[in-house]
Amino acid sequence: MPTDDAIREALRRVIDPELRRDVVELRMVREIDVSADGDVTVGIALTVAGCPLKAKIRDDVATEVGRVPGVRDVAVAFTHMTPEERAELSTRLRGGQTPRSKGVSVDERTRVLAIASGKGGVGKSSVTVNLALALRAMGREVGVIDADIYGFSIPGMLGVHQRPVTVDRMIVPPVAHDLKVMSIGFFLDEGGAVMWRGPMLHKALEQFMSDVHWGSLDYLLVDMPPGTGDVAISLAQLLPRAEALIVTTPQAAAQRVAERAAAVAAHTKMTVAGVIENMSYRVCPCCGERDDVFGTGGGSDLAERLGVPLLGEIPLEPALREGGDDGVPHFTVDHESPASYAISEVAARLEAMRPRDPVARISRRLTVL
Ligand SMILES: Nc1ncnc2c1ncn2[C@@H]1O[C@H](COP(=O)(O)OP(=O)(O)OP(=O)(O)O)[C@@H](O)[C@H]1O
Ligand SMILES: [Mg+2]
Repeated sequence: MPTDDAIREALRRVIDPELRRDVVELRMVREIDVSADGDVTVGIALTVAGCPLKAKIRDDVATEVGRVPGVRDVAVAFTHMTPEERAELSTRLRGGQTPRSKGVSVDERTRVLAIASGKGGVGKSSVTVNLALALRAMGREVGVIDADIYGFSIPGMLGVHQRPVTVDRMIVPPVAHDLKVMSIGFFLDEGGAVMWRGPMLHKALEQFMSDVHWGSLDYLLVDMPPGTGDVAISLAQLLPRAEALIVTTPQAAAQRVAERAAAVAAHTKMTVAGVIENMSYRVCPCCGERDDVFGTGGGSDLAERLGVPLLGEIPLEPALREGGDDGVPHFTVDHESPASYAISEVAARLEAMRPRDPVARISRRLTVL
């Protein structure tokens, strides 16, 4: 007959996809009941009653416990945490701070990148999503904030629409394609529109930075709205270390507007990490030749004028647009297409620019000693 300890050990392999910790550590496991025939019932307390991850947790518990020798059948009995248990969990997830303490919840070592451009429709959101996936494919923990409060598009592009779970005033970001995601779109009813003034916009962004449980991310990518307005100023105030990535297309007009976005970044004391040229060229599907539909040189000229690196030139890729429309990002479907390859290169360049983690540096030195 399997022991309670063996079952508990198996439950350590059941990870809450949003909180990224196992159910034992999260203290979600309640009674474990094992019959003489090997029928096991596991009590699991969900963080909230209508937890959208219930089915996944049930499947994972059944799979992991089912692997323990001697187990014949697994049943899961769900309950939910009391407000006190939720408060305690939220405090633990915040590293001991009380939920009411204000401030930015983004880890000190998280690199924050604001994907910006003065002009609409140049591909900021597409670049944000696919770049996030490329960084994730390199093993990084990545979060995405949709700061385009009026024209949010990230939920649609990542195919995630559930309302985030709130644990004692702490918002748990939904996970899609292994990315933690936050968007104002999650809080609106279908087709809802936002009519907010500047201060409310700032407030929403502030909540995304302070009340969302991001955990220890390597990168937090912020999809900026078109234009050069309030959001950039708010972001710079909330996270002064944020760096801007300026997206442009090859045309001179786009470049001039992008330059203005860079000027705003400079004005708000945000550093510009580099320029990404999107829709740079088209690869002919018949002959594989490069066709510079929108002209050439916009990105490199802008990078030169700003004195920052050109991080990549992403070609036009019809599949990239279709992926965005379907909620299945192009990078997840084909990470070897010319566009995905160019995006991976941008990710690799960003990684190379990343200041070395001081903790990793010290431990490396200790190993040498
Ligand atoms: N490299 C590309 N190849 C093909 N289509 C692309 C590419 N980049 C972006 N698109 C498409 O162009 C359109 C605009 O892109 P996207 O929404 O990412 O731009 P945006 O700058 O975020 O726009 P907005 O300013 O409205 O927020 C989308 O339909 C997208 O799928
Ligand atoms: Mg956009």
